[in-house]
Amino acid sequence: MNLKKKYLDYFESLGHVVIPSAPLVPENDPSVLFNTAGMQPLIVYLMGEDHPYGKRLCDVQKCVRLTDLDSIGDETHHTFFEMLGNWSLGDYFKHESIEYSFNFLTKVLNIPVEKLAITVFKGDDKIPRDDVSAKRWMDLGIKKDRIAYLGRDDNFWIAGESGPCGCDTEIFYWRSLDPVPIVFDVLDERWVEIWNNVFMEYYQDADGNISELKKKNVDTGMGVERTVAILEGVNDNYLSSIWHDALELLKKISNLPYEGNEKSMRIILDHIRTAVFIAADPSGIKPSNTNQGYILRRLIRRCIRHARKLNIDLNSNFEEEIAKVFINLYKDTYKELGENEEVVLEVLRTEKEKFNKTLEKGLKVFDKLTKDMKDVDSFTAFHLYDTFGFPIELTVEVAHEHDMNVDLEGFEKLFKEHQKKSRTASQGMFKGGLSGNSDMEIKYHTATHLLNAALRKVVSKDVHQKGSNITSERLRFDFSCDHKLSLDELAKVEDLVNEWIKADYKVEKLTMKKEEAISSGAECMFIDKYPDIVSVYKIGDVSKELCGGPHVEHTGVLGKFKIKKEESSSAGVRRIKAVLE
Ligand code: SER
Repeated sequence: MNLKKKYLDYFESLGHVVIPSAPLVPENDPSVLFNTAGMQPLIVYLMGEDHPYGKRLCDVQKCVRLTDLDSIGDETHHTFFEMLGNWSLGDYFKHESIEYSFNFLTKVLNIPVEKLAITVFKGDDKIPRDDVSAKRWMDLGIKKDRIAYLGRDDNFWIAGESGPCGCDTEIFYWRSLDPVPIVFDVLDERWVEIWNNVFMEYYQDADGNISELKKKNVDTGMGVERTVAILEGVNDNYLSSIWHDALELLKKISNLPYEGNEKSMRIILDHIRTAVFIAADPSGIKPSNTNQGYILRRLIRRCIRHARKLNIDLNSNFEEEIAKVFINLYKDTYKELGENEEVVLEVLRTEKEKFNKTLEKGLKVFDKLTKDMKDVDSFTAFHLYDTFGFPIELTVEVAHEHDMNVDLEGFEKLFKEHQKKSRTASQGMFKGGLSGNSDMEIKYHTATHLLNAALRKVVSKDVHQKGSNITSERLRFDFSCDHKLSLDELAKVEDLVNEWIKADYKVEKLTMKKEEAISSGAECMFIDKYPDIVSVYKIGDVSKELCGGPHVEHTGVLGKFKIKKEESSSAGVRRIKAVLE
């Protein structure tokens, strides 16, 4: 059963161009840590930019969602998943989109129409009821009783708080051996959602105001893991063919059956797979205490904790063995997994070794602190959490081993206070949601191209972009370079960028074949990431880079460019922070 291939072949036959998955860590979008949906890397095109591949696209996008982190361990949740998506950028709309989905399910996957049910938007004071979609489904053969009309919470889709959005229609499948009821009851959990078709015709700003987009788009998403499980007739996603080899290996390593150990086994498999994808991503994430690196660290540590529960020898290389199964499974589709295999395995190994040490130290501290206690008090539990990264479950486990209880209520209180503080700290990062790019971010984006070109001219032809991060306040640019830049070099770079801004060069977008772009000397960070036809942004005769945009039209609008800081980012990579004044 190759769902992904069937899906891409089908949409290709309907004139869609298959585009490669974007990296997990979005470039130039500091509002999210990871891509959480196939539409995310396409936001600028959904907002109206022309896509170099045209108006019909489809892909398999690697995604990481962290909202469900606490649900991992049940039958259906995953932190990493693949999303199948097809898009119309101002081309077809509801009529064809619904027909394409219906035919794919009933004719390609041969799902009986009797096993399907649909939800559509019931309308509110701002947007009318979606009768067009409901009628289309009925014309195709869905019975009236199998269509439910729901409100904004269910049938309106937007990523974050603002951005392109619209009502959606969701397709449900009867995942049970019980007879299929005539009337669709959305609350009956035997109906599971498998596909979501969003009709993106609006833009919602941060205040909730809705305006019409330049083009009417379709954005659909179908989760691979869930759909494969359904097609293979298993109710537990982890029993599908995707997980089979890794699960067999884990059973062998732990010498335990799956039954009775499901939760820990699911967590270990899920977290290792996600860690593999994060560590292999071209953005070069390493475990750390902030942002993506923190997530990576947390996933690896949680996995180790559950391995400990299953009495797996933590000094063995169990995590590398399981990681290898996933690397082999996915490396043909995602080349970075094979290419970065050594790095990935090292990340897992080193983080495990570090955590093992913390664990050892923490256990010693536990013994010392609790020596005279009858039960573990909340401060000790919180101290172990805060200083040694001991999750409360671990403290409880260890306490039980010592015949002690833990003041969970007190811990919960301290934990909530702590959470409140860190939430306030991270709010800045998420408040914007996916609002697309602000004018200032667009300016910084163009300034980044100029900076890249100036560095190559002043410092060395060997300077290449290694990463970038833009907010509306500044740009951050990482580039390959073997030395700290001198003040003279920095001044020259700054002057050159300002000279180019003053020259008011035109910023042009060209569309060409990837080979042609590369041989014409266009700069490009991750060559594999781009499709065969690419867009290239050319600024006068000073810069040429492969890039999805958006950019300003003339450099004159950028203002004054100022370098604020130059520092080391990692071995052989320097980092510049700069502002436009
Ligand atoms: N953006 C929608 C989703 O994530 C459809 O792709 O479900």
